[in-house]
Amino acid sequence: NPIKSPFEAIGGEDVINRLVDAFYARVSQHPDLSPIFPDDLTETARKQKQFLTQYLGGPNLYTEEHGHPMLRARHMPFEITPKRAKAWLSCMQKAMDEIELDSPLRTEFFHRLVLTAQHMVNTPDDEE
Ligand code: HEM
Repeated sequence: NPIKSPFEAIGGEDVINRLVDAFYARVSQHPDLSPIFPDDLTETARKQKQFLTQYLGGPNLYTEEHGHPMLRARHMPFEITPKRAKAWLSCMQKAMDEIELDSPLRTEFFHRLVLTAQHMVNTPDDEE
């Protein structure tokens, strides 16, 4: 098949691995995010690599191991506020910069992540 999936077009497994590792390195240092993530992000990163692979049209690695993603439901145990969604997206944007993801697909990929992050929000920001 001469038509590449977005997964292949952005560089496949190697690029997803580098992106997700750079992303969780930032998440673990982010004051709004680190409190809700486990200290050891090894398994979280492994699942995110599987998820983003299939999100971009690559092999369905996440579903093969974990079943339907049901992402919003899987995030319900955590307070996902608009502030945390912004922080998550900021870590992802900086991770894309860090690995120099300059694919023409980057804008579209990031825009889909914005929509998905907004969909995960399940708690309002604190009123101060
Ligand atoms: C898991 C936070 C957005 C994909 C998690 C976990 C937290 C979290 C705390 C559990 C980590 C663990 O226990 O291992 C957030 C926050 C978000 C956000 C604060 C801000 C909006 C997203 C988005 C995606 C995503 C946009 C996908 C594009 C995943 C996946 C998992 C996960 C695949 C693993 C689910 C599983 O346990 O199988 N997230 N997340 N998250 N998140 Fe998010």
